Amino acid sequence: SPRAPVVAGNWKMNPSTSAEAVALAEALEAVDGREVVVFPPTCYLDAVATKANKNVALGAQDVCVLAESGAYTGAVSLPMLKSMPRVDYVLCGHSERRSLFSDDDDAIRAKVRGALDAGFAAMLCIGETQQEYELGVTDDVCALQLAKALEGVTAAEMANIVVAYEPVWAIGTGLVCPADVAQRVHSSIRQRLRATYDSSVADSCRILYGGSVNPSVIDGLMRQSDIDGVLVGGASLDAATFGQIASFH
Ligand code: G3H
Repeated sequence: SPRAPVVAGNWKMNPSTSAEAVALAEALEAVDGREVVVFPPTCYLDAVATKANKNVALGAQDVCVLAESGAYTGAVSLPMLKSMPRVDYVLCGHSERRSLFSDDDDAIRAKVRGALDAGFAAMLCIGETQQEYELGVTDDVCALQLAKALEGVTAAEMANIVVAYEPVWAIGTGLVCPADVAQRVHSSIRQRLRATYDSSVADSCRILYGGSVNPSVIDGLMRQSDIDGVLVGGASLDAATFGQIASFH
């Protein structure tokens, strides 16, 4: 594929201490020809930036776009992230943000817009629930989430968007979406990008798979023509395991 593969690790609300976060950061390995990215909890970003291999990129798991500063207790703004060293990405639309923190389509669109305007790349997560999967409406759900989140995003700005397809039923369940099924969805997402933008945007946009990725399934996933990388949750918390995933064949 003409697209540089991305292996991303979303640490979610882990590890429990900054000492462990630093140890994990120190053990991260870069891999030639691959973009390795980690999303630590925001409170660890500074320490991780100091300790992590310079060829590993960093991202924030979330951002508040209500204001740049002010009376927003608990929130972290885009300028705050911008002032941190080495932060390139902002994760937007993760299913846990959608389901546990009520990030709706409007909020997600605003976060994508804010991230792009502030000079970050946005990693946009989309994906259907188990019920939607069983109903056979996966492509429609993904198309709608994609359209809403990318409303107003130009073809030129698409260079700074990475899409992550994460079927909700595959997240943290050990139920990996079969590679051929994921490939079919990725192809449909790319087709949407082609219809909305053009072939050049569709052919250059990285579309990652996420959901229970582990070393035993990575090669099969990465052999699919429209799977350009992975977004790894649980398996990214062990540097050796994450390193194995990043060195897929
Ligand atoms: O952002 C990562 C995904 O939610 C996948 O998590 O690998 O633990 O299933 P998981």
